[in-house]
Amino acid sequence: MTTREDATREAAALGEQLRRHAHLYYVLDAPELPDAEYDKLFQRLQALEAEHPELRTSDSPTQRVGGKVLEGFAKVRHKVPMLSIRTETDITPGGASAFDARVRKELGLAEDGPQVEYVCELKFDGLAVNLRYEQGVLVQAATRGDGEIGEDVTQSIRTVQQIPLRLHGHAPPVVEVRGEVYMRRDDFEALNERQREKIAAGQKNEKVFVNPRNAAAGAVRQLDPAIAASRPLSFFAYGLGEVSSPEQGGPDCATQFDWLQQFHAWGFPIGTQTQRARGAIELIAFHETIARQRDALPYDIDGVVYKVDSLELQRRLGFVSREPRWAVAHKYPAQEQLTEVLGIEVQVGRTGKLTPVAKLAPIFVGGVTVTNATLHNEDEARRKDVRVGDTVIVRRAGDVIPEVVGVLPESAARPAQQRGPVFTMPRKCPVCGSDALREEGEVDYRCTGGLFCGAQRKEAILHFAARRALDIEGLGDRLVEQLVDANLIRTLPDLYKLGFTTLAGLDRMADKSAKNLVDALEASKKTTLPRFLFGLGIRHIGESTAKDLAKHFGKLDAIMDATEEQLLEVNDVGPVVAKSLRTFFDQPHNREVVEQLRACGLNWEEGEPATRAPKPLAGKTFVITGTLPTLSRDEAKDKLETAGAKVAGSVSKKTDYLVAGAEAGSKLDKALELGVAVIDEARMLEILENGL
Ligand code: IVH
Repeated sequence: MTTREDATREAAALGEQLRRHAHLYYVLDAPELPDAEYDKLFQRLQALEAEHPELRTSDSPTQRVGGKVLEGFAKVRHKVPMLSIRTETDITPGGASAFDARVRKELGLAEDGPQVEYVCELKFDGLAVNLRYEQGVLVQAATRGDGEIGEDVTQSIRTVQQIPLRLHGHAPPVVEVRGEVYMRRDDFEALNERQREKIAAGQKNEKVFVNPRNAAAGAVRQLDPAIAASRPLSFFAYGLGEVSSPEQGGPDCATQFDWLQQFHAWGFPIGTQTQRARGAIELIAFHETIARQRDALPYDIDGVVYKVDSLELQRRLGFVSREPRWAVAHKYPAQEQLTEVLGIEVQVGRTGKLTPVAKLAPIFVGGVTVTNATLHNEDEARRKDVRVGDTVIVRRAGDVIPEVVGVLPESAARPAQQRGPVFTMPRKCPVCGSDALREEGEVDYRCTGGLFCGAQRKEAILHFAARRALDIEGLGDRLVEQLVDANLIRTLPDLYKLGFTTLAGLDRMADKSAKNLVDALEASKKTTLPRFLFGLGIRHIGESTAKDLAKHFGKLDAIMDATEEQLLEVNDVGPVVAKSLRTFFDQPHNREVVEQLRACGLNWEEGEPATRAPKPLAGKTFVITGTLPTLSRDEAKDKLETAGAKVAGSVSKKTDYLVAGAEAGSKLDKALELGVAVIDEARMLEILENGL
């Protein structure tokens, strides 16, 4: 038992915290705490108030049903209050039995009496709304607010494609359909991707949403419907508000199940998992089935809901305070939890991508114990400012990799010297030591030691063996996996050291397949330069670039030694490709691999460098103005530059020719004034064809 003074102090502190977090959650759509933590504080306050009832003031957070009405929206008084559901916190099957037992007791059913029929639904994790239809037309949409008064969000709700603006089929004079507006996980990921791009582009007012529910709530309470429309929302119908009686033309439904069918007939999505169940045993079975499916669902749920099916029985059961006795929410383990960051590591993926990963104190979240969570990339890690020793919110929903959503403000507020260093991405690959490179406009760093890097070994070998590269038949996914895991291949040249005996000794490898592979390896040694170049798996070097490079330089050594400027002279090679090639061949490891492959006997015919395309216009400066009859200005510029000319933006004494089209303006005047030669498109084409 807590003493009174202690209890008073603790209750005041809890009240303050809860009010702050409720405001962040409901009003600002920017929660700082996972729901489960909020619930813990809430339950602690409830317990204190139960022990010391005098602490239960009317303004205590426990005395408020839902959120708060937002400024900026018109208020809507619900004709029928929007209730909440009692939450069964016992997440074991026992929770379902306890509910069934309460219902049976209230209904006065004997132990051997009939089973109660229920409807089992999913508890969607979004935002509850009331949709009012008059004569079948959507006239108003409102959030739940505090259950009595909500916010008018008609404008943003009208952008939700899954909500019919007019009911299908026969519509009663008045009906209010209730349900959950939510965001699918894939839509959420895509939205956040766009948000990150906007932030990267310097848009200060944009933010990354912490979870789909938060993003959905933000979109619904978006005063600008254009912005709401750009945030993809979905909807499930599950409940009823005001409705015309059957005498006045309303539907005559006797069960919750009937209502769901009616909602569906009017054009609403209803939960596809919904099932009828009899008695506790079937409720438990439903809870367990959905627990297994939860990760694979395209949206978040935080539990299931059981509802007594018969509306007559619902009426008999009635309500306690603001919660119906005929329904209960049965939860699953929370998908967000708090834990401590023990370290930050950088992992290298199969394709060389470097990802910062937070090492966590083990935490049970979304049904599994998590010890690693992704921080995505350097920008994200720095934006979230995650440091060793921080307490962070970890989220694991669906089969998505667990991620760090953010740092608790208390952690972030610690003095700098008590926090770990700011994260910076290493400039060397932590696996192989090659340079790690971040290309302009990209968020990820990549290891450039493709052939040498242990993390990329399997991928590199598969790529090398691919049909369009060295075409080594029989060297597939599983075999590469086996060879690498058994340490039989570390780098590409090891492939050519595999003998028949080694191969035939592998699992599931018949003598014949081993022989075929040895032959295929032998045959692959005679190849072509483009295939070899493509097979090296250099970033941005596809098949056709490899061909262009081979044609232009003729010899591999010439390519390996070419400067970026020289590489830029090749058809279709731009700065990104040139830099990628240069960095690749600057890694000593990569050069070694190439040498070793040659030493293994890989060979191809080398040619002479292509005779340089003639540059008849080298040293000449052109300016283009006006609209040309057949070419766009860019096309004309391209042609001139290919012939070696310089194309400038303005006319000066250094200009040799002005190519003038229709409606040429000041540039033409200037050219005439300076005595620069003025030609038309036809003459330009003739010069290109025949020279000056
Ligand atoms: S029925 C009287 N059914 O859970 C019962 N609610 O605390 C009224 N929710 O605000 C609600 N899925 O946002 C019901 N299948 C479902 C639900 C559901 C999610 C949410 C809803 C409501 C909260 C109840």
